[in-house]
Amino acid sequence: MAVRLFEGKKHAAAYLQYRVSPTELINTIMNYMEKKTLKHFNLAVDVGCGSGQGTVLLAPYFTKVVGTDISPAQLEMAPAKSNPPNVSYRQSPAEELPFASGEVDLVAAMTAAHWFDRQQFLQEADRVLRPGGCLALVSYTMDMELEYRDVSNRLNDICKEV
Ligand SMILES: C[S@@+](CC[C@H](N)C(=O)[O-])C[C@H]1O[C@@H](n2cnc3c(N)ncnc32)[C@H](O)[C@@H]1O
Repeated sequence: MAVRLFEGKKHAAAYLQYRVSPTELINTIMNYMEKKTLKHFNLAVDVGCGSGQGTVLLAPYFTKVVGTDISPAQLEMAPAKSNPPNVSYRQSPAEELPFASGEVDLVAAMTAAHWFDRQQFLQEADRVLRPGGCLALVSYTMDMELEYRDVSNRLNDICKEV
């Protein structure tokens, strides 16, 4: 079941003020993608983007970056910081992403996936990602169980290794 904690205006304002920017993590994701897949990336989706502090860091690498979040209050804070022209935001639950099947190069969730219904989210990520696309779950801890089709053990081994 999804856990909802970040949705009030007060929480969104405090979050914008105090969250740390993860430039090094973005570099790690992009280095991985550049080695493993194409050199040109069209669409990145930052799921559970909050006020967009990680979303904007993806802008230099993609034609288009869309941050999605369930909370209108978090999304209202996003334009408060400067946004590159290729970045936009949409309200949507992680479990129902507003993208066509196979159109996304990167699905990222930064300190957010532990709040989602992970089974439904993984299904959606798998649906919207192009073949060979990348799912990046970024968090302070990867102490969570992932369950998806016949790759659950592999996913959980990766989390433990991280
Ligand atoms: C800890 S914040 C992380 C925000 C942002 N990714 C960052 O790194 O600053 C978690 C965010 O996930 C969002 N969230 C929680 N459950 C969600 C869900 N089921 N679908 C979409 N967003 C969700 C919250 O509204 C919140 O903005």
